[in-house]
Amino acid sequence: TEDFFKPADLGGLKLTITAGPTREAIDPVRYLTNHSSGKMGYAIAEAAAKRGATVTLISGPTNLKTPAGVERIDISSAEQMHQAAMEHATTSDIFIGCAAVADFRPADVSEQKMKKKDGEDDMVIRLVKNPDIIACVAALDAQRPFTVGFAAETQDVEQYARGKLARKHLDLICANDVSNEGQGFNSDQNALHLFWPQGDKALPLTTKAELGAQLVSEIVSLFKAGK
Ligand code: CTP
Ligand code: CA
Repeated sequence: TEDFFKPADLGGLKLTITAGPTREAIDPVRYLTNHSSGKMGYAIAEAAAKRGATVTLISGPTNLKTPAGVERIDISSAEQMHQAAMEHATTSDIFIGCAAVADFRPADVSEQKMKKKDGEDDMVIRLVKNPDIIACVAALDAQRPFTVGFAAETQDVEQYARGKLARKHLDLICANDVSNEGQGFNSDQNALHLFWPQGDKALPLTTKAELGAQLVSEIVSLFKAGK
């Protein structure tokens, strides 16, 4: 009922959001991944769609329902997420990289299930770096969207977050202190500290649904201020 009175004030605005983990194949039955649930990205997508924005959600494997009115594109690996992101970024006003992209993938993917060998008690999997998706989006020349990243940190949060903001040429970074129990990865609650070149703002611990709504408001006002 509360939503009934909220205007669809983001009509005409296109957002692309990445969410969830990626899976990096080792062989046909095994992969590398991480603990991302996708909840934060889905909450942002839901909040933006409720306000009338056109939302594309590029999602790694999650157990979440697609929010109403959101176009969802399912991918598995970082390379697939990269391709989908570049396809949608140039037609978006705002790009939000919420996904926990695997930094590395196995250099060689075995076509057959890997087998143990008698007498071999250890094995080595060589990894190669994945493309930095958000940095690629922020490096777009023409039709570069307002680009928002996340930073999951366990220490020196501001220093690392500002480092990523500058290095990746982002417009805004949302830092997540994942050393605090009960927030971040897999939790239903989160707190964020936003950093942009000329300022910062703390968003205290609350539900991811509420935080998603607050974040959409902050992102849209910075986006509009920059135009
Ligand atoms: N990111 C990305 N592509 C990657 C790695 C990260 O787009 N290959 C994005 C994430 O979606 C997030 C931001 O970059 O928006 C920061 O991710 P994070 O893992 O915190 O930083 P990294 O740059 O990967 O550095 P590190 O993991 O070493 O702290
Ligand atoms: Ca990383």
